[in-house]
Amino acid sequence: MQICKVKNYQELSRKAANLIAAQIILKPDSILGLATGSSPVGTYEHLVEMYENGDLDFSQVTTVNLDEYKGLAGSDEQSYRYFMNTHLFHKININHANTYVPNGTEPDAEKACQAYNELLHKIGPADIQILGLGHDGHIGFNEPSDHFENETHCVDLTETTIQANKRFFDSEKDVPKQAYTMGIGTIMRCRKILVVVSGKDKAEILKQVIQGPVTPEVPGSILQFHPEVLHTKEGRKMLSNFVYNICGCSGDWKIDSFVEESIKNIREKVGNGKVLCALSGGVDSSVAAVLLSKAVGNQLTCVFVDHGLLRKNEGDEVEAVFRPEG
Ligand code: F6R
Repeated sequence: MQICKVKNYQELSRKAANLIAAQIILKPDSILGLATGSSPVGTYEHLVEMYENGDLDFSQVTTVNLDEYKGLAGSDEQSYRYFMNTHLFHKININHANTYVPNGTEPDAEKACQAYNELLHKIGPADIQILGLGHDGHIGFNEPSDHFENETHCVDLTETTIQANKRFFDSEKDVPKQAYTMGIGTIMRCRKILVVVSGKDKAEILKQVIQGPVTPEVPGSILQFHPEVLHTKEGRKMLSNFVYNICGCSGDWKIDSFVEESIKNIREKVGNGKVLCALSGGVDSSVAAVLLSKAVGNQLTCVFVDHGLLRKNEGDEVEAVFRPEG
């Protein structure tokens, strides 16, 4: 599990979007697992901007959403299908036939869940799953329970979730009491998981998720067992210990030479130990981040690459922060 702390919501959104962009650039027919709620709104805005700038092509992408309120049609402004259409799908060149959200209008829960499971089996695990985190530790709508649910199921929303989500509705009584959600097993089978967490009010539950015991009472805690999870969280204390500056590359940079030079510089500073490398930034640098982490394999975990790292003008500061892991 990797944790990337950022200064504010803007930076959180930019970094999350860059990671998703890197995924799409490296694998244009990626399967993206998507979430709704307030946390990923900025991420989707950045993805739309990258598409408008010609940096991203969604034409071969497939998406599967985590959940949908039971009883709401896609035309309902509070439905998660409507949310996805307005925040992302209608603003990019994705093939709408390749965007999937559970069918909230199917009153038969068993039928609705079975249909979504069949679809998920057919499509296969998402290459990257975006998650928000509920105040009670839920991921998707997997609410605190005495067991982890494997696949899509119908849930009764907890009082905490109803209270948290009433802000999107005219009144509390309009908040649906049930939802269809992807199961924990399906989420855990995704290749990579990106958790976007925003707001002081999530600090306590995030701590339980990343440091507490793994228990279905805090559903997100299961993520501790996933091999590739990156939590991005607002906060200022990023990598306060063991932070060093290194020179990356300078002048006329190319991704290959950047990777080579960065590894050399990191090795000079910390030898062959296992290193957590925290970098950040734009689309090209996200690709560099992925290449860098591949190139160094187990010995270096690359979290992110920054715009600053790849500045092209001579004299610009070029740096990355990194620390020995553990
Ligand atoms: C939404 C979802 C939920 C939210 C969570 C956090 O598709 O699956 O788990 O991610 O409730 O919501 P926000 O971001 O609004 O705090």
